[in-house]
Amino acid sequence: MSAERSTADRPWWRNAVIYQVYPRSFADADGDGIGDLAGVRAQLEYLARLGVEAIWFGPWYPSPMADAGYDVADYRDVDPTFGTLAEAEALIGEAHALGIRIIIDVVPNHCSGEHPWFQAALADPAAPERDLFWFRPGKGPDGGQPPTGWTGNFGGGTWTRTTNPDGSPGDWYLHLFAPEQPDFNWDHPAVRAEFEDVLRFWLDRGADGIRIDSAALLVKDPALPEVAEGVPSPHTDRDEVHEIYRSWRRITDGYPGDRALIGEVWLPDRQRFADYLRPDELHTAFNFDFLGCPWDAAALRHSIDGTLAAHEPVGAPATWVLSNHDVTSHVTRYGRDDTSFSFAAKREGTPVDLELGRVRARAAALLSLSLPGAAYVYQGEELGLWEAEQIPPELRQDPMYARSGFVDPGRDGCRVPIPWSGAEPPFGFSPPGSADPWLPQPPEWKSLTAEAQDGDPQSMLSLYRDALAIRRSCPALGDGPLRWLDSPPGVLAFARPDGFACVVNFRPDPVELPAHQAILLTSGPLPGGRLPTDTAAWLRTH
Ligand code: GLC
Repeated sequence: MSAERSTADRPWWRNAVIYQVYPRSFADADGDGIGDLAGVRAQLEYLARLGVEAIWFGPWYPSPMADAGYDVADYRDVDPTFGTLAEAEALIGEAHALGIRIIIDVVPNHCSGEHPWFQAALADPAAPERDLFWFRPGKGPDGGQPPTGWTGNFGGGTWTRTTNPDGSPGDWYLHLFAPEQPDFNWDHPAVRAEFEDVLRFWLDRGADGIRIDSAALLVKDPALPEVAEGVPSPHTDRDEVHEIYRSWRRITDGYPGDRALIGEVWLPDRQRFADYLRPDELHTAFNFDFLGCPWDAAALRHSIDGTLAAHEPVGAPATWVLSNHDVTSHVTRYGRDDTSFSFAAKREGTPVDLELGRVRARAAALLSLSLPGAAYVYQGEELGLWEAEQIPPELRQDPMYARSGFVDPGRDGCRVPIPWSGAEPPFGFSPPGSADPWLPQPPEWKSLTAEAQDGDPQSMLSLYRDALAIRRSCPALGDGPLRWLDSPPGVLAFARPDGFACVVNFRPDPVELPAHQAILLTSGPLPGGRLPTDTAAWLRTH
């Protein structure tokens, strides 16, 4: 395969395969049943061998863990559960030595109720810190009604009433997520200055990228109107938010090396989404449209075309995401009748054919890893972990579960600790004799441990290792153009320059492969040389 254009001279974030580590659930070195940085450091070689180019860490900051660390009490330190700041610095250095970049999760929309600013604001209704948040009197004669009727992202209302120091009922404060996560007031210059400093804190420590949590939510309409059809949302995707990211871009541009800003932007409107990726704003953002897409050739092609068309005018690379710590594992999604994903309809408990989901997840890996741009791998995806749907109610931790009145199962099922080795829980997640893992692991995962899959050429782990090795050696993959090839209905086939093709068969019957010189990798066997249902092939075409 000849390289039409080398990707080697392009910034890493245009091409990289980025592995998401969910620190609580990756590897536990100190035996408390919760993952930690020492556990990650011990597994860096595993990640290097897997072939990823970067690691994104979920929040590791000091936190009361009301939302698994997305409630940050101190943006410049590490929670003792995970380790120390010195360990984080060592980890960054060790990853760099292995050629792996590090992406830090910054949570700017809200902090923890334990953050010193919020504590000061609560302690005194006259405190200047009140202005750093959204404190408002309630409605109604006694102020007993919340200032707005907005619905929070975890269900329930978005305001909690405070109690004044003299015991009388006080103002309400805004939280788009749990009450333990008060929203910052981004109209206040001190909030802006603080986060610019937080960015510098981690960039100074070698962070190569910043994942921006809830990136579209920061700015609110200060008039606090109700949400209404046909008018801009008072709390999501306000035009003024772009000014914040322009100032952040000036900061990353001032650092040596390619430092990337990566937005968590959930927006249905692709044009509004792409606005975040203008040349003076964020570098990339997560492609949730593709993640939510059903396992269907036409729907996926529509999503791929729409994604590429939206990114092209702003010059940003697309990203491809199948799973993360917020969504139902794609092995499980793809094994259901309805294979789409939305937060509104999680379908926990509906029938799942895990074998079907596994076969499709293998094909989806080859599809997503050969599309133009960067790709994300959520920890455990390379092991084919499915959603743990049998977690007993009393062990569920996600605030989404309680706040939805126990209707939404929450996100614990995709956050279960990684099975590394052995035949029974904790599967090497913790050292022998440790506390139980913070969420129970399905005993069936004994066949999915990294140890069980290592060296098995048919395993999901081997598929990911093979795919990433090919991707690294093949300059056609990653950033660059895509050309659709003629194919029968229900088959997706595309070429990447120069001489690479990916074919995925969604039809019920096997199909012939297009003309090729060599088969580089397939997601499953090819009986009779034909590509079966739910199978993908990577080909060298010339
Ligand atoms: C993002 C995170 C999610 C968290 C929420 C609030 O969506 O991915 O896990 O609960 O923000 O910080």
